[in-house]
Amino acid sequence: MAESLQIAKGGKEEKYALLYSQVQSLVEVENDTIANMANIASMLHYTFNFWWTGFYRVCGDELVLAPFQGPLACSRIKYGRGVCGTAWKERCTQVVPDVELFPGHIACSSESKSEIVVPLFDADGNVTAVLDIDSEKYATFDECDSAWLQKIVSLIR
Ligand code: SME
Repeated sequence: MAESLQIAKGGKEEKYALLYSQVQSLVEVENDTIANMANIASMLHYTFNFWWTGFYRVCGDELVLAPFQGPLACSRIKYGRGVCGTAWKERCTQVVPDVELFPGHIACSSESKSEIVVPLFDADGNVTAVLDIDSEKYATFDECDSAWLQKIVSLIR
């Protein structure tokens, strides 16, 4: 892959489509999970100018902070806690239009207003990590984000 990020003109559908093809190229030539998470966090963050974009990995009964872009974040999240722990427990994407209305939301930053968390699965269907994206605007994420982000993280091995 060319080591500079290309950002499509147009709406988020077009931006995600180009991003997806760049992630495909990235993972074709690199199989290290952490390296790929690091570049994918960067690509998403700088394509959409999100507030915080990153991964937490499942380690025992906790999620542990993994590659991210953005301000300092909490290092560990328990199973079932916060939006991230809920995505792990429920095994499905959480779209949160207003974080203050999500019971148990963990506020790493007071700037964060809406959030999406997408679980990653291994070949046996176990959750191995989550992708967490925060926005400083309300209701940033919808079905389009959910569908594309699920496709993008499914490329990580
Ligand atoms: N808000 C998340 C915690 C992680 S930070 O947003 C980076 C949660 O409730 O799980």
